[in-house]
Amino acid sequence: MRSVTGRPVTEVDTPALLVDLTVMEDNIQRLQRASDQAGLQVRPHIKSHKTPEIAQMQVRAGAVGVTCAKIGEAEVMASAGLEDIFIANCLIGAPKMRRLVALAKRTPKLSISVESMECARAASEAFEAAGMTLEVLVELNAGADRTGKEPGDIVDFANQVAQLPALEIVGVMGYGSNFAYTRRGHEELLKGAAEEAAFIGAVAADLAKAGHRMDRISGGSTPTAGRYKKGCGLTEIRSGTYLLNDMNQVDIGSCTIEQVALSILATVVAHPTPDRAIIDAGTKSLDQQVGQTSDGYGWLRDVPGAVVYKINDEHGFVGVSEAQRDLEIGEKVRVIPPRTPTAVNLYDYLYAVRDGMVEDVWRIVARGKNT
Ligand SMILES: Cc1ncc(COP(=O)(O)O)c(C=O)c1O
Repeated sequence: MRSVTGRPVTEVDTPALLVDLTVMEDNIQRLQRASDQAGLQVRPHIKSHKTPEIAQMQVRAGAVGVTCAKIGEAEVMASAGLEDIFIANCLIGAPKMRRLVALAKRTPKLSISVESMECARAASEAFEAAGMTLEVLVELNAGADRTGKEPGDIVDFANQVAQLPALEIVGVMGYGSNFAYTRRGHEELLKGAAEEAAFIGAVAADLAKAGHRMDRISGGSTPTAGRYKKGCGLTEIRSGTYLLNDMNQVDIGSCTIEQVALSILATVVAHPTPDRAIIDAGTKSLDQQVGQTSDGYGWLRDVPGAVVYKINDEHGFVGVSEAQRDLEIGEKVRVIPPRTPTAVNLYDYLYAVRDGMVEDVWRIVARGKNT
């Protein structure tokens, strides 16, 4: 790969993933400031960048550590020197337990979420055999109806987990996406943040009453990020997408288009009809999670009204009939994806850009770490 560091971004070959450094740095600082004011610790989810350099920037700005979804992601972060790692996902199966113990041996502070006795028992056995203990947060179904215990069942569950010799409960976590992703606009999101925090906070109070340590009461997503108030009921948030944002967040009203730091640089490779241009970014280069909010696969950042309405493997179909201007074959365009985490997972490198110049090129080391 020819070095493009110090060169104009237009010299980067396409498709390529770009991050606007100024916007990303602002996003990091804004969330950290708001969380400091609310007395909340920030433990960002790295799913939105999968890049050690960015995790280190978040920690330098004040994050207490990082959240990962996969052991593979946590292994990458540990190798990069991140010291406080939380894996917030269901870890099931002997290979994962073996890797978890190995990871714990080289991570100063490792914790996981548990939501089944199958996971909890296996983790306890693996850590007991290694002569170690593991800190865990019991998982609450905070309305996403994905994983986690119901509020009425979680105290019993925690009581059972507490019997296991090698696990130490240090808190409760929940992913309250329904408090966030079903709302639109700042005022509604403020309510969502308060309701989510109160919901998880009330369960934490029950758990504390039952004698469980509640050092960490963990919630948070991006639409609610920066919208919590002091004493809301949480002690930490795990927001991830806030870092780079995406069209979904713009639609929800959790950020402005100017606060989207991520884009995909693509080249217009054909213009077969007056209303249809084709870019070299299709399913292999753009997130496919369409229809969550806006109906499209990508929005041309610098050409309002130009929308990627269909994608094949190698082709993005751009509708230009409503666009502010026409596109020309050979020109490079920046495309905002519907969702950041899946788009990032498609690329090996992230081009860090400031004022149109490539300042750095980072390897997205934790991309594709699916186990
Ligand atoms: C468990 C958990 N925590 C935190 C997050 C971060 O949420 P967001 O992407 O809204 O920032 C996610 C996102 O999927 C998640 O699954």
